[in-house]
Amino acid sequence: MQSYTRTAVWLHWSMAVLVLALMVVGFSLPEEEGPARSLGIQLHKSFGLVAWALLMFRVAWRFTHRPPAPPAGLSPAQHRVAEWVHGLLYLLLFVQPLLGYLSASFAGYPMLWFGLELPQWGWKDREINHFFTECHEISAFILIALVVVHAAAALHHAFVRRNGMLRRMGVPLG
Ligand code: HEM
Ligand code: HEM
Repeated sequence: MQSYTRTAVWLHWSMAVLVLALMVVGFSLPEEEGPARSLGIQLHKSFGLVAWALLMFRVAWRFTHRPPAPPAGLSPAQHRVAEWVHGLLYLLLFVQPLLGYLSASFAGYPMLWFGLELPQWGWKDREINHFFTECHEISAFILIALVVVHAAAALHHAFVRRNGMLRRMGVPLG
């Protein structure tokens, strides 16, 4: 059976873990200002930018390495839906950090990446900051919904239809 390259598999699972961790940290940031919130935001921003950099590498890898042919038994329509969901996942993985960067750019704090100062794309403005924070939150919910559909489909293929779907992504199950 054809499968993804080892690099594609590594990128898929490391980004899945990173994105889930970013969601957990993002949603559990304390509301009130203080050292816990500021440490949480610093780590969230730094690792969020790592996710964006990994995505750039992943997209470059994807363009230069063909994915395996669809598994046997998948109808053309099902394959098209899977391709759309994958495309939307890539889009959201691109947009989500971008909206976070925009939100942080209007918060009035330095844009630090593990202590290294990066350019701001804005100035201190509470309203614009809130607007982009809302967008960042909505986009997180869309990303979560897509991941749920995507993971449910992968598990259905692996354990109900038993067509080796998870094995293509490096998991020896199903
Ligand atoms: C944040 C979480 C996740 C993201 C962002 C994500 C994203 C993606 C993307 C973009 C692809 C398409 C790869 C390509 O052809 O370029 C893919 C493939 C795949 N993902 Fe995920 N994924 C996530 C979590 C999961 C989970 C939890 C599972 C399993 C339960 C899973 C199983 C798979 C499998 C089996 C494939 C290969 C599909 C095929 O062979 O056509 N993913 N994923
Ligand atoms: C894939 C990457 C990312 C994911 C999945 C993610 C996810 C989240 C989530 C779920 C929240 C909580 C939303 C809420 O309840 O309001 C959040 C908050 C936040 N994120 Fe991200 N984020 C990512 C990348 C980034 C990046 C790259 C930055 C900035 C450089 C960033 C900056 C922020 C800030 C500043 C907040 C707190 C907003 C506030 O409460 O004022 N995020 N993020």
